Amino acid sequence: EHLTTYDPGFQSTAACRSAVSFVDGEAGRLTYRGYPIEELAARCDFLQVAALLLKGELPGAEEMREFRSRIVHHTMVHQQVSLLLNGFRRDAHPMSILVGLIGALAAFYPLDPAMSEQEQHREAALMMIAKMPTLVAMSYRYSMGWPLEYPDNRLSYAANFLKMMFALPVEPYEPKPAAVKAVDTLFILHAEHEQNASTSTVRLCASAGANPYQAVAAGVACLSGPRHGGANESALRMLESLRAAGGVKAIPDFIRRVKAKETRLIGFGHRVYKHYDPRARIIRNICHELIDELGLRDDPTYALALELERIALEDDYFIERHLYPNVDFYSGIVQRAIGIPTPLFTAIFAIARTVGWFAQKNELLESNDLRLARPRQVYTGSPLRHLPETLP
Ligand code: CMC
Repeated sequence: EHLTTYDPGFQSTAACRSAVSFVDGEAGRLTYRGYPIEELAARCDFLQVAALLLKGELPGAEEMREFRSRIVHHTMVHQQVSLLLNGFRRDAHPMSILVGLIGALAAFYPLDPAMSEQEQHREAALMMIAKMPTLVAMSYRYSMGWPLEYPDNRLSYAANFLKMMFALPVEPYEPKPAAVKAVDTLFILHAEHEQNASTSTVRLCASAGANPYQAVAAGVACLSGPRHGGANESALRMLESLRAAGGVKAIPDFIRRVKAKETRLIGFGHRVYKHYDPRARIIRNICHELIDELGLRDDPTYALALELERIALEDDYFIERHLYPNVDFYSGIVQRAIGIPTPLFTAIFAIARTVGWFAQKNELLESNDLRLARPRQVYTGSPLRHLPETLP
């Protein structure tokens, strides 16, 4: 008889030991390698945070230069990947395109058999972190029918991404500093979040010995779900439909429907945080600080979000269930202000989370706990039976 604990949704099962990040749900605190997310967002850039997450310590200046130059070295993707891209419908969802392109990278970038599995994954981490912005920008430009834009490695990670997204041949492109700052901060906030669904997916793939690119493709597929990373897109769509239904006037009826369980307030609630999600607070502050630069002062969707939050936080239904805004409530508003189209929101999340996926997957591959992940079940089917003499 196997000892099996029934725990649907893994609400109380620790599947690993991890030193990468910690979500303290009671305190409403998120730390990467022990450092509070607020300090990292205020004082580091995304690649410094990436190096910290992957290596465990903040790199020194020389190590950081080396890390940046190794990333920059890999920002291009094989020309033939664009042939694959051309096979997609132009109106395909970017997350579907990304799953396909990233999975295919395994075929374009074979792993070096002379390396150990751990070395292969460390090398793949640099390749993937470098190539994700290029792939996301490619999928956007393809949907627009624009020619592809090569990476500009003189720029920062965030500025290069914006340029690959939005540069057009008609005039030189200069990303706005406020947009670069906002994107870099979004990348930092989304980089890692311990054992969430997509990270667990990637760890599970790694436990089976899967190819690192294919493991990331699985992570992107999981992230796309509206209860996980896809919530940023759903949250903005919810705000837009509220606006169409009358704006602030429509909030009471919407809240009534939420309480009747006809719908959910997307961008609220979290499995672990039982207080305000610290990432949501940082994004909210960005909206406030960059209100003019991002053109949010007269943005009715932003005003609506603030009012919806105010009303929900005073309502007993939300108070009793500890439902607060999560990272996705305001991230769509910032992204839209920068000009990022709604279907790309989750792809931006994926760029950032690639770092966390690798930090976690490589931690597993380098630990003594590496075993094939294989959950058990509580069987509820028919007892043993035999086929009848004549099949129906
Ligand atoms: N709106 C209304 N009610 C909610 C919500 C919400 N957003 N979230 C939870 N509840 C209620 C739920 O109906 C239940 O009520 P009751 O006790 O009366 O049955 C109670 O709160 C507990 O909910 P649960 O679904 O058992 O809690 P969970 O830990 O499984 O759910 C969640 C976590 C994130 C799936 C959920 O809060 C949700 O659906 N939120 C909306 C989607 C969203 O914003 N997702 C992004 C999460 S953060 C980023 C990421 O992980 O990618």
